[in-house]
Amino acid sequence: MTRRSRATLDPGMHKHLLEVQERLAVGTLPQWVLTDPTVYELEVERIFARSWYFLGHESELLNPGDYVTRWYVNDPILLTRTKEGELKAFLNSCMHRGTLLCAADSGNRKGFTCPYHGWTYGLDGQLIGVVADDKVYGAEMDRDQWALRPLPRLETFHGLIFASIDPDVPPLADYLGGLGWYLDILVGRTDKKMEVRGAPLRWVVDANWKIGSENFGGDAYHVAMTHRSTVELGLSPKDPLFTSYGHQVVLDGGHSISVITKSPKLGPTPPYQGQPEHMWPNFERNLSPQQLDVWRDTAVFHGTCFPNLSFLSPMHGAGGHGHLTNFLTMRQWRPVGPDKVEVWSWFLIDKEAPEEFKEESYNRYVGTFGPGGTLEQDDVEIWTRITDTSRGLMARDKNLNYDNVMNYVMGLDRVEPDPEWPGPGTAYPTTFLEAAQRSFYETWNSLLTVD
Ligand code: FES
Ligand SMILES: [Fe+2]
Repeated sequence: MTRRSRATLDPGMHKHLLEVQERLAVGTLPQWVLTDPTVYELEVERIFARSWYFLGHESELLNPGDYVTRWYVNDPILLTRTKEGELKAFLNSCMHRGTLLCAADSGNRKGFTCPYHGWTYGLDGQLIGVVADDKVYGAEMDRDQWALRPLPRLETFHGLIFASIDPDVPPLADYLGGLGWYLDILVGRTDKKMEVRGAPLRWVVDANWKIGSENFGGDAYHVAMTHRSTVELGLSPKDPLFTSYGHQVVLDGGHSISVITKSPKLGPTPPYQGQPEHMWPNFERNLSPQQLDVWRDTAVFHGTCFPNLSFLSPMHGAGGHGHLTNFLTMRQWRPVGPDKVEVWSWFLIDKEAPEEFKEESYNRYVGTFGPGGTLEQDDVEIWTRITDTSRGLMARDKNLNYDNVMNYVMGLDRVEPDPEWPGPGTAYPTTFLEAAQRSFYETWNSLLTVD
């Protein structure tokens, strides 16, 4: 397969994007980049078409014949487990007239019959049945030529399934780089790894996708204000700096993670985010002493795998206000336009965790970060307002006549990295910092401007 050609960058847009680069160096971001329709098209062509894109988790397709349907930005994807147990990803579009081949979200089948004229494909994408066959096409029809179109690359990392439509994308482990070390802690810490519970939850928000990516990538600063109700209800500490303790880690490739420890005023954090004690030897078998050291005192992990897969592993009920529960959600900000995002949210839990722990953790996830979850509602209300305010004449002026730049200066030239940090990346000894957001936009900008 040859490399996809990309639309050339209009010289005017190129100049504006170079100016964005200059602004980022001094800690500002022009507001027009959020909702500009040309930028959206460029992002699809130049970022999503050459990145790894998260499609789901292996536990969603355990048995031969299992399948799920997903989206790779605007490409419908059919992900299958073949009879031989292999994972395959195809464009979910019939080779006859392009109809959406499989309209169901998930299931188990031997093959897929198109609802238009009835062509049938196997789990491996082969065309195995054609209505009226020889009578209309003759015996010479080469069915191999009409197999489903596979995505050129498909790889997994601790059960997380990623695909790319770029045949030349670097191997997934290289793409994840240092983030892999932290993903070991989140999804590779037990012998049997994680499982997805329930179907991924989905909802559409009138917001640009980058806002979710950068929020989860490094915005611990918003918590005490946006999620004020958790403080008022006594679920979060009163200390206004309570999410600032810990490290923000900036990784190559636009990835980042924040590792938040508990407020020093509240005493020690239960080890491993309150995971059941009988699981600890399992963690100790699978993680290095340095990874265990980082995890032991952590209250919350949140971060983003560039461009649009975020994750959050909080511990709710910290501060002695009742019982602690930890969960992990992976969430994808699927861009469906410059001002619309479809949120896909998976809940993951250690396969070997006790059932009651899984149940309680799931309930806590749905109540906080499900589509109607309290904290989710807080966030998307704000993100929608940002998107609204970015559509006006002043905010979207590319010549910056109205000083329409946003402030990303937090910590710029003020906070030095912590040389003692045991993990990969540049780790700063606070999470009230916008180094992660600057790095996200620098990567974003370089992909848009470099061919
Ligand atoms: S479009 Fe699928 S069989 Fe005709
Ligand atoms: Fe939030």
